[in-house]
Amino acid sequence: MTILVIHGSPRIDGNSEILMKEAIKAFEEEGHEIEVIKPALMKIAPCLNCDGCVETGECIIQDDMHRVYEAISEADRVVVASPVFFFGVPAQLKALIDRCQALWCKKYLLKQPITDKQGRKGLLVMVGGMAREKGFEASNATVTAFFRTIDVPEHEFVYFKKIDAKGEVLKHPEALRATYEAAKRLLSP
Ligand SMILES: Cc1cc2nc3c(=O)[nH]c(=O)nc-3n(C[C@H](O)[C@H](O)[C@H](O)COP(=O)(O)O)c2cc1C
Repeated sequence: MTILVIHGSPRIDGNSEILMKEAIKAFEEEGHEIEVIKPALMKIAPCLNCDGCVETGECIIQDDMHRVYEAISEADRVVVASPVFFFGVPAQLKALIDRCQALWCKKYLLKQPITDKQGRKGLLVMVGGMAREKGFEASNATVTAFFRTIDVPEHEFVYFKKIDAKGEVLKHPEALRATYEAAKRLLSP
């Protein structure tokens, strides 16, 4: 299988990256092909709501997002690993998600397929510094809209609260294990 992994954090070697690597370990053990996309290291402009995609399903902004469209189309499974920022997802990841408005137009207005892959599934792994649930719930709503738009009709959500300092998740083996196990479940049909 081809597995697309989207990492939402701008922090290198941070908590969500450590969790993402646990998921990748689970995939690599079974020989799957993995593509990692890091919007914070790419040139992805925010959506302009210019309606440029309405009649074509193609975004007119020429930047790295076109690599992401291709990766989305080719994936059998999609993983999003991200921290919570201000009760939502980081701006870099949100820009990527908003640019999927072009795929929304393709699917719902033009009735064209997003992918020829069947039975796609997703996994959302999140980490946040606060004890409150609301930021995770709000982020899950955003990522659910993303997943459904790109033809990922079901996903599992695992999240870990009160983990803030860089690398702190390493002191939480239960979070590493839960992510690894969720990644293994993602591989089932
Ligand atoms: C701009 C910013 C906003 C944040 N907002 C929240 C928040 O609303 N809720 C929360 O639980 N944690 C919040 N945090 C804490 C991060 O989610 C936390 O530090 C997380 O472990 C970072 O993951 P990373 O190392 O993968 O970037 C925020 C951090 C930053 C930098």
